[in-house]
Amino acid sequence: MKNIDYQNRGFAYYDTDYNIRCTYTNGAWGELRTSTSKTVELHIAACVLHYAQEAFEGLKAFRGADGKVRIFRLEENAKRLQRSCEGIRMPKVPIELFENAVIQAVKLNEKEVPPYESGASLYIRPVIFGTTPMVGVKPADDYELIVFVSAVGPYFKGGFTSASPFMLSREYDRAAPCGTGSIKIGANYAMGLAAGEEAHKRNLSQAFYLDAKEKKYLEECGAANFFAIKGDTYITPSSDSVLPSITNASLAEIAEKCLGMKVEKRQIALAELDTFDEAGACGTAAVISPISEIVDIDTDKHYVFSKDGKPGAKCKKLYDYLRGIQYGQIEDKFGWNTIIEF
Ligand code: PLP
Ligand code: COI
Repeated sequence: MKNIDYQNRGFAYYDTDYNIRCTYTNGAWGELRTSTSKTVELHIAACVLHYAQEAFEGLKAFRGADGKVRIFRLEENAKRLQRSCEGIRMPKVPIELFENAVIQAVKLNEKEVPPYESGASLYIRPVIFGTTPMVGVKPADDYELIVFVSAVGPYFKGGFTSASPFMLSREYDRAAPCGTGSIKIGANYAMGLAAGEEAHKRNLSQAFYLDAKEKKYLEECGAANFFAIKGDTYITPSSDSVLPSITNASLAEIAEKCLGMKVEKRQIALAELDTFDEAGACGTAAVISPISEIVDIDTDKHYVFSKDGKPGAKCKKLYDYLRGIQYGQIEDKFGWNTIIEF
């Protein structure tokens, strides 16, 4: 393990020695290859450059107190990538190929997995894109799958310990206009850059989105799902244009099956924000990032969830349980972890 100041690391790209690649051509996936190159050579007419035929995943590996390295919910990420591939007509990455590529990327970069309790973890980024040269709009014939890793710190400043303010505005929509919100493709994120910039200008952490059609219902936060706590209930929006977060699904399961809470996944009207005791953004990168307030910049109304900037008690319970499983300190009764053998 390297001697690195992980405590002060943000969520960013840091070079590692190796990445894994796999090429799809002539209707079939090839063998996994190990690469030390940090670049790709693309044809100027490559499909991805013009028509954004690309999808990605994000998952993490954690080094536990027992020294073991665990990858969280590998298979769920493989399945979601398959749905993204189907959505924009790319060949599905077989589950086993995806899992092997991720495991190899982690194994080869073992020294990059941050130490236990460093506050950092190993972010794993699989990405697939169409490489065939073309100008007509159609799916590519050839694809590249790359899996790289980066040792990262918290996505939002302060991580779990410090609640962040979010910006609500009816000006912006999260998903690309073609309704691809529930699949994870780069184009959706490019659509959110303007909203993110506006939030930062106002000293707010990220944009919070309402449904694109009526601007009446809660959707999600910049690069994370939204959940709220009301009494003993975990509430999260149900919508086709919200990315199905694996962290959110895990928290809902923990809430219901381990913490005896109720879970509601349903449409949530904006006005209901006033009734919540706690709120958080959740995702692989965000883990749980407590929300201090949501500022409606169109009406100047502030929905406040944390006056002292600290996470609430229920958020803390959920966070501790999730982390406990990820770091191997709470029994993984759902079978969510893949333990890496070195
Ligand atoms: N929503 C968006 C838009 C995201 O980018 C992410 C991150 O992947 C999430 C939600 C959280 O999903 P997950 O928990 O699967 O990482
Ligand atoms: C993740 O949480 O894995 C994400 O993909 C968010 C990312 C866009 C930073």
